[in-house]
Amino acid sequence: MHEDIKLYAILTFGCQMNVRDSETIKGILENIGFCETEDPAKADLILFNTCSVRENPERKVYGRIQQYKPGTDKIIGICGCMVQQGAEFEYIKNHLPQVSLVFGTHNLHELPQLIERVMLGERVLEVWEDKKDLIEGLPAKREKGVKAFVNISFGCNNFCTYCIVPYTRGREKSRQKQHILEEITDLARNGYKEITLLGQNVNSYGKDLGTDFASLLKAVQNIDGIERIRFTTSHPKDLSEDLIQAFVELPKLCEHLHLPLQSGSNRVLKLMNRRYTAEHYLNLVEKLRQAVPDIALTTDLIVGFPGETEADFKETLDLVKQVGYDSAFTFIYSPRKGTPAAQIKEQIAEDIKKERIYRLLELQNQISSDLNQKCVGQTVEVLVEGLSKTDTAKLTGKTRTNKTINFQGGKELIGQTVLVKVTTGKLSSLEGIIEGSVL
Ligand code: SAH
Ligand code: SF4
Ligand code: F3S
Repeated sequence: MHEDIKLYAILTFGCQMNVRDSETIKGILENIGFCETEDPAKADLILFNTCSVRENPERKVYGRIQQYKPGTDKIIGICGCMVQQGAEFEYIKNHLPQVSLVFGTHNLHELPQLIERVMLGERVLEVWEDKKDLIEGLPAKREKGVKAFVNISFGCNNFCTYCIVPYTRGREKSRQKQHILEEITDLARNGYKEITLLGQNVNSYGKDLGTDFASLLKAVQNIDGIERIRFTTSHPKDLSEDLIQAFVELPKLCEHLHLPLQSGSNRVLKLMNRRYTAEHYLNLVEKLRQAVPDIALTTDLIVGFPGETEADFKETLDLVKQVGYDSAFTFIYSPRKGTPAAQIKEQIAEDIKKERIYRLLELQNQISSDLNQKCVGQTVEVLVEGLSKTDTAKLTGKTRTNKTINFQGGKELIGQTVLVKVTTGKLSSLEGIIEGSVL
């Protein structure tokens, strides 16, 4: 029935892990003769690479899938984090007959065989509970450009009580250093200038291999052609002195750290199983700023965790003020089936959660704008990424502190690092005037 299948579309939800997985899936599909289309209506195979971290992205996926009726001649596939949960898997299996392909986060590499079976008419639903071994050497179709994501570890062992990720991504496993360095060397050869190392908790990289994250960073620093190194995400409980020192010693490591706080209340942090206190966190911030005075800090915050009182929430507001984050991702707590926090009786009412997130956003927006305005007059190094999305007469790029900056300039500058004088600081971006090139 599907013999002449050629086009695929993939819709990616969730974090950079999923973005990176989608690149692998695209690479695999193109190796077996598929071509990508941006338009799902034209596609013979539509894949939803899903996220379970909050309820919203899950709802969106189900909404989109309902648009396809049972008996559709398209292959509808679901992969990613949702299908790693027993309850969602059963729901898809029993209630969404239009879905003919399901695979998980641990068996991407089996895709060619799975697709072949679907094309022979079978409904293939195959998910592994955890990864047996890390599979190296899978193909990838990456976004063209100057930046690339590189996985350094998979999974998470932290079990923050609100979080589904340890269940959907399995136990933490680090990639061998040599494989990571080979991948980055290859990216450099293909013109990529900036790499972002990915892990749910990069700070525990290598514990299972007898090495550590700071020494990986040192090795990446030595790869010719790579100009900028970033990483995400960093857990405060595992942030080492060596990592702080790496910011001082490694010129390619950009002055930005995403350090999720989640809550400013020690009582809530304990309930979240975050295993640090507000004091420990502030102490880290102080040490980081002593070592790298102009480091930009960003964070993740959750409001309305079960049992969060007004006093707890005020402690979060206080910490946000004290740290002065350049920006923050703010989330309303979303109960996830199977996680300990979802069992806690004192769930917070929706209207209180909303009221708190508005207050938090108002504060953070003020801080972000103020800090961006403080950049006015500075000359910053910008790696030019392309044309600005909002104004194609302008170029866009990122400062080393990971701020978006737009400025007038010719297309030939794309891929180069230039010096830009900041003229305007807005809520979530800067504007500037080009001053010259960095050699
Ligand atoms: N491994 C990363 C984050 C992964 S999830 C880390 O530990 O920092 C990204 C963010 O989603 C988390 O930092 C948290 O702020 C948010 N998040 C996770 N589970 C959530 C939930 N159940 N409800 C609301 N936000 C959640
Ligand atoms: Fe989730 Fe915590 Fe692991 Fe991050 S560290 S992925 S928040 S369990
Ligand atoms: Fe979502 Fe899975 Fe990432 S749950 S946030 S896509 S690890």
